[in-house]
Amino acid sequence: MASIELFDTVQTTLPEEYKQRTTEELIQRANEIKSKLGSRLFIPGHHYQKDEVIQFADATGDSLQLAQISAQNAEADYIVFCGVHFMAETADILTGEHQTVVLPDMRAGCSMADMANMEQTEKAWEQLVEHYGDTIVPLTYVNSTAEIKAFVGKHGGATVTSSNAKKMLQWAFKQKKRILFLPDQHLGRNTAYDLGITLEDMVVWNPIQNNFEGNPHEDVKMILWKGHCSVHENFRIEHVEQLRKEEPDRQILVHPECTHDVVRASDLDGSTKYIIETIKAAPAGSKWAIGTEMNLVNRLIQQHSDKDIVSLNPEMCPCLTMNRIDLPHFVWALEEIEKGTPMNVIRVDQSIAADGKLAIERMFEHV
Ligand code: 13P
Ligand code: SF4
Repeated sequence: MASIELFDTVQTTLPEEYKQRTTEELIQRANEIKSKLGSRLFIPGHHYQKDEVIQFADATGDSLQLAQISAQNAEADYIVFCGVHFMAETADILTGEHQTVVLPDMRAGCSMADMANMEQTEKAWEQLVEHYGDTIVPLTYVNSTAEIKAFVGKHGGATVTSSNAKKMLQWAFKQKKRILFLPDQHLGRNTAYDLGITLEDMVVWNPIQNNFEGNPHEDVKMILWKGHCSVHENFRIEHVEQLRKEEPDRQILVHPECTHDVVRASDLDGSTKYIIETIKAAPAGSKWAIGTEMNLVNRLIQQHSDKDIVSLNPEMCPCLTMNRIDLPHFVWALEEIEKGTPMNVIRVDQSIAADGKLAIERMFEHV
């Protein structure tokens, strides 16, 4: 990600004064700047963000919704993205030249997105094409760097999110016989399995060792990049088994970034939007165990006190990088904008942005 940022605008150490201010003072400043800038400022917030930040969001959503909302907003001069780096990059790719996207803390990355870099991807592609010829279309989860999105766009592929993965796999299989799915092996495996592809017809690509894990036979349909979300891998089959034994009437609802055994053993799985809608529609008194990031699970617990909601893993912690965006960093970012010196500007190089946009627009066309 380093090659596509403007280094002169990057700030990482929170100035002391923001640590000294009270929460009330910070809230007051955020409200003042929001009302002063009006529609010149737009704040999208991902469902995993902390409450102290999400309260200021003009729009909340899952990755797909936030990408669509960013694409539609031509009015705001400043987009302060409350989410992680790849989401802010996507917003920059989809918004106009006149718009500036700011990430309040540059350390808000995504460990999964970092599991596929360009060097690994180019090496992998060379070997995969040598092995399978021109039979592969690449799909990348939006949780990937802009460079990977551009690579995929250049090679006829598209991006996917957890809420449209099935449709995008169906689209991809109309293009070519096989899919290279990166960087999340679990979303790729879970989605392909739902479409009736057997585990025997999937093979894992190890980007560190630069080789296949499993049998790369002629009938392989899915080549799964060996990446994962370190947050969702903390929901394990033992948690499901224990709950089934102790509370068989509690329904289990997980994000498809969880491992295949966990998703198969659960009752329902889907994107953050799907999780929220399912809980909203559930009857009072119903019992749920949710397998996703803790800021969202805690918010659902608070908002639905008529339902009995717990985390599938009782010892779960939040996504640490999502949590980097806190109230002090948020207000700091707003104050720099107010001064006319925006910091942590996310600007994707034009050559990368054009191919990345192609991959994202192919997704928009088919969902
Ligand atoms: P959603 O697309 O479901 O919001 O998920 C994004 C994400 O990062 C999940 O870990
Ligand atoms: Fe990335 Fe996982 Fe955090 Fe989502 S929850 S932002 S995939 S590390």
